[in-house]
Amino acid sequence: NLPIAVTGVSSGIGAATASMLNDRGIKLVGIDRTVPESFAGTFIQADLSTPAGARAAAAQVAEAAPGGLQGLANIAGVPGTAPWRTVLGVNVFGVRELTRALAPVLAEGASVVNLASSVAFHWRGLADACARFALAQDTEEALDAVAGDAHATGESYLFSKQCVCFLTEHLSAELLPRRIRVNAVSPGPVQTPILEDFKNDHGRDKVEGAAKLLGRFGEPEDVARVVAYLLSDAAPWINGADIRVDGGLTAYRSSAAI
Ligand code: NAI
Repeated sequence: NLPIAVTGVSSGIGAATASMLNDRGIKLVGIDRTVPESFAGTFIQADLSTPAGARAAAAQVAEAAPGGLQGLANIAGVPGTAPWRTVLGVNVFGVRELTRALAPVLAEGASVVNLASSVAFHWRGLADACARFALAQDTEEALDAVAGDAHATGESYLFSKQCVCFLTEHLSAELLPRRIRVNAVSPGPVQTPILEDFKNDHGRDKVEGAAKLLGRFGEPEDVARVVAYLLSDAAPWINGADIRVDGGLTAYRSSAAI
């Protein structure tokens, strides 16, 4: 029974995932920049907005899990109301650097889950730009290179989540020889503190209109349940996938657009 590392445990979907895994008897190592009100496991306070921060967090996780990890859930994320460098730093490079730094600690057969977003489905045409950005060796250079790019800076959140979808497939291929699965979960609007930022970023009417259409906003547990499933042995043949958990929002919008 090796532990699972979960980022973003101090709020919303990360907190719900940690609590669900704890109820199933799984040991946890939690990571967040904010100290949680309550957390059952080893908590590590870390800032995932820079590669150095992510690597320092990974070193502490490795120390807290000397026997290795059975899973990693990259849930921490920031909305598009934050400065674009922070959005791309946490949502893209935070995920990449933490996963790569923890790869040697992940046991064979382990599972990694990344939080993307249903908004990424609107941006499939940016695959090449995302690939260049998300795989750049020098992250500072990559950030400087997209400074004039309207997609990456003006729509940093959407761009970052498209990059997460790309990185998920890429890391899945990278870790396949070690039988480590890497999947993404793409939620629609979920009732967490970040939702208020989404209303300010994407438009209040649009976000509230989605809840009207679907009957309600998602609850953190709607997403946590799928993350926990992908982390478990119940999903051994799901690898490199992106599972939409959005109440049908994306399907409705794309079919309405036909
Ligand atoms: P939240 O705001 O409730 O939680 C995010 C957590 O990430 C917080 O505890 C925060 O302290 C942590 N975090 C932020 N920056 C960090 C950093 N630099 N270092 C370490 N920790 C940091 O948000 P929520 O809703 O739980 O979001 C979880 C994930 O789900 C995010 O990646 C978000 O983009 C994604 N998502 C959320 C949706 C929603 O409607 N709530 C919809 C689609 C995706």
